[in-house]
Amino acid sequence: QQKEKSDLLKAHELSGTFFHYILKNTVHGKDAVQYLEKRGFSMKLINQFQIGYIPAMRNTLSDFLHKRDFSLPLMEEGGLLSKSDRQQYVDRFRDRIMFPITNARGNIIAFAGRILGDGQPKYLNSPETILFNKSKTLYNFYQAKKEIRKTGRIVLFEGYVDVIKAWDAGVLNGIATMGTAVTEEHATTLKRYADQIILCFDGDEAGQTAAIKNLSILEKMKFQVYVAMLPDLMDPDDYIMTHGSDRFKREVIENAVSATKYKILYLRKNFKLNDDNERLRYIRSALKIIAQLDSPTEREHYIKEMSSDFDYSFETLKQEMFEIKQELE
Ligand code: CTP
Ligand code: MN
Ligand code: MN
Ligand code: MN
Ligand code: MN
Repeated sequence: QQKEKSDLLKAHELSGTFFHYILKNTVHGKDAVQYLEKRGFSMKLINQFQIGYIPAMRNTLSDFLHKRDFSLPLMEEGGLLSKSDRQQYVDRFRDRIMFPITNARGNIIAFAGRILGDGQPKYLNSPETILFNKSKTLYNFYQAKKEIRKTGRIVLFEGYVDVIKAWDAGVLNGIATMGTAVTEEHATTLKRYADQIILCFDGDEAGQTAAIKNLSILEKMKFQVYVAMLPDLMDPDDYIMTHGSDRFKREVIENAVSATKYKILYLRKNFKLNDDNERLRYIRSALKIIAQLDSPTEREHYIKEMSSDFDYSFETLKQEMFEIKQELE
């Protein structure tokens, strides 16, 4: 298996270089370059993330790999090729922008291929292989590691493009999962480098639900978790394209709120706060979140905030919180 792994690593490395070359230096890459430019990718950024393109023909990569004596069955197993109906080895990715996915050592182990424009699937990712385990892999971790260690802080995004555009905006500690939830393996690796993590997920319902889901595993792993909030229907890339890098850093990243505060705010969507009964039910739900905090100082902090936001006395809220806490125990 060692030989297979090293062959597959070599094939991924060569493929990454090949796709990047096609994008930049051939007629096939013209539309892809245009697409990327329209989306605000500079050449510098395309180089930094070794973004490439694979043409629509079915044998661009299979011919390339065959000429270099790679075993085509291994290349299929490795997720670079697939088999046609007529049992021929053909390219698995076609007519897609290719984002190389690297391991923690910087070796390419997979690709994410984005369609140019609309269509399904939007991203075609490599399948899991002997090199690529999605629950261990973090996009851009290799390049972000240095900044993560330096600042003790990670910014976790939902999308590859968000990581890349945030990098361009000067956020050098950004990473993303493979479109899946954060796993315990991810968290264990990250904990060796940093204690703080900012979740910067898409502003839509899907993104906010994903943020809430990831919060609990990260809190369990003792990260200090923050959540950056985006306007509804905007993801970090959209925000940067609309408002620019400075506002993104100042108003989104630096304004990230603590996980507890985020949960309390997120709850509000479920209640009509100008209705007395709903307002009181909201208060109780929020106090329930506060009641679950371990530290008395933290509890006091958030009760004080609620007291000033809703104009109930600190003492009353505190008493109610204790009653809820006792019901929980
Ligand atoms: N994703 C995926 N496969 C899909 C759709 C999404 O793997 N068919 C994953 C990708 O990791 C993607 C992330 O989920 O980056 C977030 O999805 P989405 O917000 O839809 O895409 P964006 O990252 O915003 O991509 P783009 O800006 O190119 O539309
Ligand atoms: Mn530590
Ligand atoms: Mn989304
Ligand atoms: Mn998105
Ligand atoms: Mn996007």
